[in-house]
Amino acid sequence: MISSGRILLLLAAAISSASAFVAPVPKPSVLTTTTNTQQLPIAANNNEANIRRGTVLFMGWGPDPIWSPATVTSNEKACQSGSCVSITLSVNPETAAEYAIPGQYVQMRLDGDTKPLFLAIASGPDKENASFEFLIKKTEGNEWITSAASGTTVEMSQVLGGGFPMDENLEGFKYDFPTQNVLLFAAGSGIAPIKAAMESGQLNVAGSGGGGGRTARLYYGVQNPDELCFVESFGQWEQMGYQIVPVLSQPPADWEGRTGYVQAALEEDGVPIPRNSGALMCGMKGMAEAVKDILVKAGVFEGRVLTNF
Ligand SMILES: *[C@@H]1O[C@H](CO)[C@@H](O)[C@H](O)[C@H]1NC(C)=O
Repeated sequence: MISSGRILLLLAAAISSASAFVAPVPKPSVLTTTTNTQQLPIAANNNEANIRRGTVLFMGWGPDPIWSPATVTSNEKACQSGSCVSITLSVNPETAAEYAIPGQYVQMRLDGDTKPLFLAIASGPDKENASFEFLIKKTEGNEWITSAASGTTVEMSQVLGGGFPMDENLEGFKYDFPTQNVLLFAAGSGIAPIKAAMESGQLNVAGSGGGGGRTARLYYGVQNPDELCFVESFGQWEQMGYQIVPVLSQPPADWEGRTGYVQAALEEDGVPIPRNSGALMCGMKGMAEAVKDILVKAGVFEGRVLTNF
């Protein structure tokens, strides 16, 4: 049922792009497809609810999980309000070795009775370190992990997804203009894979390792300052060459920084060297679509606007 959802999405995409060039595809074929995939509305609703809650950043598709044990080694508040926790787990060395590209994720569950969570890895790939960090927003039903004490053993899948396709789109010769500037967009717990990308060195930003000399800016949207996660890492990220722009949608009266939504902040700032810019983003669908639209209109190659799913 999971893959049927994906097939429908792919079909829908194929149909809508086809109709842009050829005669409109008659509606019945779409309806037939929907009828054939009774589970889709349920899956779609779950995804929407999960995305709204900010916990699950991925659609429910992909290969079947192969479970192996992982042990919680730390569980700390990730933001002032405590609504999100940063959890580190020691993982199977083979699982650690599979993690190569920021933006990849795993499924996690307590046991066969728990509904798995889809979680982006928040730490950068490090094959020598069989330990993954995750950012998890507390929600009803996920206390088994958000309240887990060190020593708790859970089940983790293999590493899933292709991550942000940076190598192909930012490094290669696919476009005539080299990437000299990287823009990052995160909303809520979407900061997790963005953190992994920044800390990986794979973006080749001046100062972040990897030997590159790119400029980079992160737009990070949350409601209020107490929801900003990894604040204690902001200084380190800045030293790595990332300009950090927190954007608050419900700012307190004394907030002097940016307000509103990240897409509005981007629109205000503009894109300085669009043909030489690439972008990574993770967060709510509305944010991702609006940001992509602004970037592409400004002249960023559409293929250089990267998501991790
Ligand atoms: C290993 O990875 C974890 C999770 O990101 C991190 O907390 C820890 O500092 C790392 N250890 C080393 C030796 O790099």
